[in-house]
Amino acid sequence: MCGIVAYLGHRKAHEVVIKGLKRLEYRGYDSAGIALLNNGLNIYKKKGKVSDLEATLKEEELNSHIGIGHTRWATHGEPNDVNAHPHYSATESLAIIHNGIIENYSSLKQELINKGYTFRSDTDSEVLIQFIEDIQINNDCTIDEAVRLALTKVVGAYAIVVMSKNDPDTLIAARKGSPLVVGIGKDEFFLASDATPIVEYTNEVVYLNDYEIAIINKNELQLKNTEDIPSTPYIQTLDLELEAIEKGGYEHFMLKEIFEQPKSIMDCMRGRLNANSGRLVLGGIREYANKLINADRIIIVACGTSWHAGLVAEYFIEEFCRIPVEVEYASEFRYRNPVINEGDVVIAISQSGETADTLAAMELAKSKGAIIFGVCNVVGSSIARASHEGAYTHAGPEIGVASTKAFTAQLTVLNMIALRVAHKKGTITESRYRELLVELETIPSKVEKALKLDDQIKEISEVFKDARNFLYLGRGYNFPVALEGALKLKEISYIHAEGYPAAEMKHGPIALIDEEMPVVCIATRDSSYDKIVSNVQEVKARKGKIIAVVTEGDALIPQMADYVIEVPKTDEALMPMVSVIPLQLLSYHIAVMRNCNVDQPRNLAKSVTVE
Ligand code: M6R
Repeated sequence: MCGIVAYLGHRKAHEVVIKGLKRLEYRGYDSAGIALLNNGLNIYKKKGKVSDLEATLKEEELNSHIGIGHTRWATHGEPNDVNAHPHYSATESLAIIHNGIIENYSSLKQELINKGYTFRSDTDSEVLIQFIEDIQINNDCTIDEAVRLALTKVVGAYAIVVMSKNDPDTLIAARKGSPLVVGIGKDEFFLASDATPIVEYTNEVVYLNDYEIAIINKNELQLKNTEDIPSTPYIQTLDLELEAIEKGGYEHFMLKEIFEQPKSIMDCMRGRLNANSGRLVLGGIREYANKLINADRIIIVACGTSWHAGLVAEYFIEEFCRIPVEVEYASEFRYRNPVINEGDVVIAISQSGETADTLAAMELAKSKGAIIFGVCNVVGSSIARASHEGAYTHAGPEIGVASTKAFTAQLTVLNMIALRVAHKKGTITESRYRELLVELETIPSKVEKALKLDDQIKEISEVFKDARNFLYLGRGYNFPVALEGALKLKEISYIHAEGYPAAEMKHGPIALIDEEMPVVCIATRDSSYDKIVSNVQEVKARKGKIIAVVTEGDALIPQMADYVIEVPKTDEALMPMVSVIPLQLLSYHIAVMRNCNVDQPRNLAKSVTVE
């Protein structure tokens, strides 16, 4: 949540920073701002999108070669011009951008108020920069030392960049809990919440660790921690193409990412799976592989769509590995006193790898002695780095706030992990193992086929675009898909939607069904097919409008449904990767038809780095 960008070098800073903020807008988009050194330290900020800010900037004022910028997702204080970042210190000599939450800001603020300080905004971030300046004045020290001393007193999460009117060639950055990457170019430096604003200038980056402070002077990057211990920057080479973070001709990132799925699933299996030879290798799971194989219980922690992927994995792992699985909302898990035994292992699933609740849940499990496997998409992310071992999903950058290709890639990885464990444990027969490997390899082509339903789904979307509610029903492996379909619809089209296990309907939700209620029934041919046929009939009897997702060639359900979407046949354990595709497209088209901002839905941000 919140995106931060900074630049120091020979280019016009505002151009790099504004462009970078646009790339990071998925992290927050309620207000934006930039600070530049041009005849003094000047801050330009505004409620609204980065483009609104850009429109107010006057070219003649923008000759600074150093700058910091921020795109905000409000935590403290409503989204308005004053609460937007950057924030000045009291004397307006310093400016800060901040992503995260300073938990002890009110006591720090009170301390400063007692000394006579006043505040312009309601933010915790302004408290921090005033605190830093107070320390600098009282200790007569350098700005990096003042930042360091201040951070030793701060409780909470932060990624910050500070610039000073009196130090025109210096940027000070630090992180704890919120991500920050330094890009190293030729005689220039970049700072950003992730690598997307950096990749078009350089592929040499340093990911800051918690408690690290980066001091960037004109030609030099120095690192130390809050204990004042210096360290050598570990420079990594980015494996990220510019085109992967651009829309590539699609109207929205979400649509691009939906259509990328045949490739992203393939990329996820590449080099890991060879069905012909029966080879399945996950390079990131080695040392602790036996922990997984011999686990008494697997606990999955995740949020949102990643939690839905965890639910599918629960079905898969229990069926093939015969290990009990519990799927936990990370936000709940972290605040109770969960029982974690020696034989338990934890799988943390996260696209961004930065979700605060998931990170905290895994840290809690770790503190109780659990081994953690991370399933993340963003390479080098906090969750990936804090895991003992894991497997990346390799789906490429997902920029649309609604998660799509990350979900199918997570399922691919989780299925591969489970099949590997089941095979090693001997809880799956050789023939079933081989059969599933072969089927897994066919999934990209089946997803490709499901994507051809786009025009038909657009027509269905036209019919239901004004609905006020939706129900999604599924059984077995398709139950989490029902949850995921409902989440996709509500988050981008603002239509109220509920996902249910189809059989639960008669315990309450059936009361909602009348001729106005669209009911999406995910009713592909599987072991619970006969049961879901009965559930579809129950909806029909109450005049609900049925949109059925069925397996190609199904003759029965089309007799009952109002609209039928046929997806290619696959093994029921792998079906979620295919049956979710029409639901992603349905939510996308409905949102577009309702003029909703698909890639930046209201109140949301791509990576939820606050609890
Ligand atoms: O980055 P993560 O996978 O940890 O994110 C978890 C959720 O915030 C995320 O899946 C969210 O629910 C999406 N907006 C769903 O489309």
